[in-house]
Amino acid sequence: MLVLENFNVTLDGKHILHNINLTIKAGETHVLFGPNGHGKSTLLNAIMGLPRYRVSGRCCFKGQDITSLSVDERARLGIGLMFQRPPTIRGLSLRNILKICARNDIDIDTLASQLKLRTFLERDVNDGFSGGELKRSELLQLLTQQPDLALIDEPESGVDLENIGLIGSALNLLLEKEKPRYQGSDCQLKHSRHKAGLIITHTGHILNFVEADVGHVLYEGRLACTGHPREILAFIQQKGYSECVRCLV
Ligand SMILES: Nc1ncnc2c1ncn2[C@@H]1O[C@H](COP(=O)(O)OP(=O)(O)OP(=O)(O)O)[C@@H](O)[C@H]1O
Ligand SMILES: [Mg+2]
Repeated sequence: MLVLENFNVTLDGKHILHNINLTIKAGETHVLFGPNGHGKSTLLNAIMGLPRYRVSGRCCFKGQDITSLSVDERARLGIGLMFQRPPTIRGLSLRNILKICARNDIDIDTLASQLKLRTFLERDVNDGFSGGELKRSELLQLLTQQPDLALIDEPESGVDLENIGLIGSALNLLLEKEKPRYQGSDCQLKHSRHKAGLIITHTGHILNFVEADVGHVLYEGRLACTGHPREILAFIQQKGYSECVRCLV
């Protein structure tokens, strides 16, 4: 689904990401850990192709080099981003942006109800939304877009203990995690999961709701290690990032 090779990112003259190599296969969910300011959001924003990010190296999506494509072209190909801090868009209602995002015949009202945003549909996008409401609004937009690769920046930050379950269910829906992967005793692949995800998390709370396949640590702009998400999280909690990076290279 996604292959990054020697991927470097510079923003306003600052070299933030160095030689990132990362492969995410169809059906896989990866999580990204890392200290504040070490480049996690930069990685997601650069994959989405946001303006101002200067990149070198290769960024391939479904086998196609997308380095020179614009944000909307990447979105049409099937990449979606949940912002860490989404902008407010005055003059555009949530309902209208959802209609623009929607791929197929999606019942916007039902989806909005599931995310407790039914009464927000006529409000301007993110205008005055609380921290938790912003996260649900972002996920609602992604659910209507149905991207094949979902880039999720800190889905649980600012979300209360009850709503985190709601965020988890929405992510599972987005990543097709509620469909069985195998059916029948012969283990024939019938409902193979296709959607892929890359989720940034600080606390790891989201791992209690979403099954992740691979974890990475981004440290000082470099992908420092790759392993089992829960093992990495436990190590970081015990020893901190600097030890984690030393041990798990
Ligand atoms: N325009 C800019 N010019 C220079 N440096 C910048 C610019 N924009 C961002 N940075 C820096 O790039 C670094 C990486 O930022 P990024 O937002 O990717 O971090 P992060 O790992 O997502 O952090 P957090 O966990 O706090 O969200 C930070 O040190 C940030 O200050
Ligand atoms: Mg960030």
